[in-house]
Amino acid sequence: MKSVRLGIAGMGNIGSHHADYLLAGKVKRCELKAVADAFVDKLVSFQQRGLRIFDDGREMIRSGEVDAVIIATPHYQHTTLGISALQAGLHVMVEKPISAHKADAERLLAIRRQHPRQVFAAMFQMRTESRYAKIKKIITGGDLGQIVRFSWIITEWFRTEAYYASGGWRATWKGEGGGVLINQCLHQLDMLQWLLGMPARVRSFVQLGRFHHIEVEDNVTAYMEFPNSATGVFVSTTGEAPGTSRLEIVGEMGKVLLENDKLLFVRNEISMFQQCKTSRLGFQKPAVWNIEIPFATEAAQHATLTQNFVDAILDGAPLTAPGEEGIHSIELANVMLYSGLINQTIELPLDGTAYEKKLNELIAASKFEKKVVPVSNEDFTQSFMR
Ligand SMILES: NC(=O)c1ccc[n+]([C@@H]2O[C@H](COP(=O)([O-])OP(=O)(O)OC[C@H]3O[C@@H](n4cnc5c(N)ncnc54)[C@H](O)[C@@H]3O)[C@@H](O)[C@H]2O)c1
Repeated sequence: MKSVRLGIAGMGNIGSHHADYLLAGKVKRCELKAVADAFVDKLVSFQQRGLRIFDDGREMIRSGEVDAVIIATPHYQHTTLGISALQAGLHVMVEKPISAHKADAERLLAIRRQHPRQVFAAMFQMRTESRYAKIKKIITGGDLGQIVRFSWIITEWFRTEAYYASGGWRATWKGEGGGVLINQCLHQLDMLQWLLGMPARVRSFVQLGRFHHIEVEDNVTAYMEFPNSATGVFVSTTGEAPGTSRLEIVGEMGKVLLENDKLLFVRNEISMFQQCKTSRLGFQKPAVWNIEIPFATEAAQHATLTQNFVDAILDGAPLTAPGEEGIHSIELANVMLYSGLINQTIELPLDGTAYEKKLNELIAASKFEKKVVPVSNEDFTQSFMR
């Protein structure tokens, strides 16, 4: 194969964005051949450009017109369409989250294991951003020493009632399976586990519909402990403005702080553990170096990750975000919501079946009726987190 024939299932906000950069030729050796959406009327302009259009992702998957598919539908269909595409022999890139909850992700990954030769990727474009690559390098290179704490306040995900009203599936137990955690925060939760690994236990507090007329969580504060006794706090909401985006990671050799597009490394000259044990003075901290780490500020990186998907198909390039790793951010989102819902600390790994049962109870008990109002014309790319 010299070039990948690609299809997109789900042509809403993000599916249209993928189509825009693909049709603009931003991904080499890849041709957008087909698009599918449940509302096929909105695909006429693509048909006029010579693309095949379908009113269901499954039809496109079965058509033989594409070698690979990006699945950009609401979360629950990521599992069903992902399974159909893998079983049809296609390469698959699934939008985040790879499924709506952990048990569904396990179902998807079980099928993936039966099709190991196809490329299976997830759209976690934050992994391509150089600021996070630099933090990862500092951690994995041992410059921070033993990690002891993180705190991440990510309250910049402001969303209005109009946003929630714009899609029937949004912010409902049945359509989305949760709120700010499974949707907006998935990027940070993937980054969290990518940088620090998975916690051993989580206790969180969630508020359902605190700021919006929705039934799911839009305000979260979570505390977590890691296997090495490191601790962390994660705070997020879609109801706050102007909001904050502040990640601090502390290790024995200092701290890394990412805030306001600035990355600082305040480096201890000697380990704080060593200073604690050996200093003969009571208050003296280690001396520090203040280092500002430059990084490139890239625009949204979806095209970069799609190029990586294509390169993996054509050349066997290693994936930046293998689909299998998508289960970790889902587990984090699920455990943070579940702990808040049942008011308990939860040990990981999360029991995906128990969580699915709880979610199904919430779906069955839901009396929430949603009135869908299309959002007025707005530049969707403004929603991408910087
Ligand atoms: N990576 C990112 O930066 C990013 C950004 C936004 C959304 N997302 C993810 O992308 C997904 C879609 O989000 P959105 O905001 O674009 O939603 P959206 O509601 O704007 O679009 C979803 C589209 O899928 C269509 N659809 C539903 N079932 C389908 C099926 N079986 N076949 C074909 N089309 C179908 C709907 O008609 C709709 O047009 C979500 O899972 C979301 O988490 C990722």
